[in-house]
Amino acid sequence: MFAVTAARIDADDPLAGLELGERPDPVVSDGWVTVTVKAAALNHHDVWTLRGVGISADRLPIVLGCDAAGLDPDGREVIVHSVIGDPDAGGGDETLDPRRSLLSERHDGTFAERVSAPRRNLVPKPAALSFEEAACLPTAYLTAYRMLFEKSGAQPGATVLVQGASGGVATALILLGRAAGYRIWATSRSEAKRERAVQLGADQAFGAGSRLPERVDVVMETVGQATWAHSVRSLRPGGRIVICGATSGDASPAELTRIFFTQLSVTGSTMGTRDQLGRLARFCEQTGVRPVIDRVLPMANARDGFAAMMAGDLFGKVVFTVLARGDNPGAPAERAMKRGSPGPRRSAEQGLRDRTSRARPARQARDRRSRS
Ligand SMILES: NC(=O)c1ccc[n+]([C@@H]2O[C@H](COP(=O)([O-])OP(=O)(O)OC[C@H]3O[C@@H](n4cnc5c(N)ncnc54)[C@H](OP(=O)(O)O)[C@@H]3O)[C@@H](O)[C@H]2O)c1
Repeated sequence: MFAVTAARIDADDPLAGLELGERPDPVVSDGWVTVTVKAAALNHHDVWTLRGVGISADRLPIVLGCDAAGLDPDGREVIVHSVIGDPDAGGGDETLDPRRSLLSERHDGTFAERVSAPRRNLVPKPAALSFEEAACLPTAYLTAYRMLFEKSGAQPGATVLVQGASGGVATALILLGRAAGYRIWATSRSEAKRERAVQLGADQAFGAGSRLPERVDVVMETVGQATWAHSVRSLRPGGRIVICGATSGDASPAELTRIFFTQLSVTGSTMGTRDQLGRLARFCEQTGVRPVIDRVLPMANARDGFAAMMAGDLFGKVVFTVLARGDNPGAPAERAMKRGSPGPRRSAEQGLRDRTSRARPARQARDRRSRS
């Protein structure tokens, strides 16, 4: 089968270790099933793997990709939960299993025509979401869901600052947080991205490191070193930073004095449970929230998506599609969409504007049916 593989680790030139081509079909262990991948989303995790972060060379070659939506062996539309772990070993939460991994860490990942996963990891895909939209949920959107609704401790109406507005997790935080009634403030290094963040639903957007009109209840951190000091200074006394990533590095001063003096909490968050993924899918269905997709590319052009992510040249998710025999390569779902073109990205933002309309999911499903 066709697959996108990490063949070698290169910390300085990650694309040097990226290989596209034939790989053996997935091995199906007891209790596992094979999913035919229709769409798979790129995460920074895939770039980290190529850089050798979180994986050792003896695991290579390995198929990349944490996220997928596709068809189970009975033809049902499913979303693949990426966390491979035993809930019992994690006190009822598979993300807390000390031996848990994500697809593409120990087992081949989703950037392939087929992926094998435990049967319990398959979550029904709501019909209202396209395969491309559904493929964005298992990592970035699930992480954002848990950060907001489990880890932040903040009630709707609270002010939440999202650092680095344009990333996959960050755009998910803006969309989900806005739909749930939080006041979302965002920062970005780029004026154009700040404008996009406001269009998406952020109440206000600020330049990186800017002084805010008032201190916030919660800060959502994915950037790390470049924004950490600002995050600590932006919180009200007793506020909380929820951190799930450190894209710009983690060697920032901890700001210990400020943290104890203003009695802040710092909470780590990683992925989410299978049940949370199911609730996230329903949240999208009920609210009309749809993931922000920067571009959809055929999986054969995956290298372009990786390059755009590494250049920071994105607003939202990169999705790869897999053509099956009989699919129409000219259909919107499979056409390579470049940034700025109409299509998935426009419909995602259009979707946000309409998100309070209860009638919208049904209308979207009807529109999608009439397009296909
Ligand atoms: N723990 C988990 O379960 C989990 C899950 C998902 C992701 N993550 C981690 O979270 C991070 C974000 O992931 P992603 O997939 O959302 O990545 P992404 O789409 O590539 O987003 C990158 C983000 O980082 C910001 N950024 C990058 N370099 C920066 C710098 N030098 N200064 C300021 N901002 C900078 C960008 O903000 P601008 O708007 O300013 O460009 C952008 O928002 C990654 O480190 C990833 O590994 C962790």
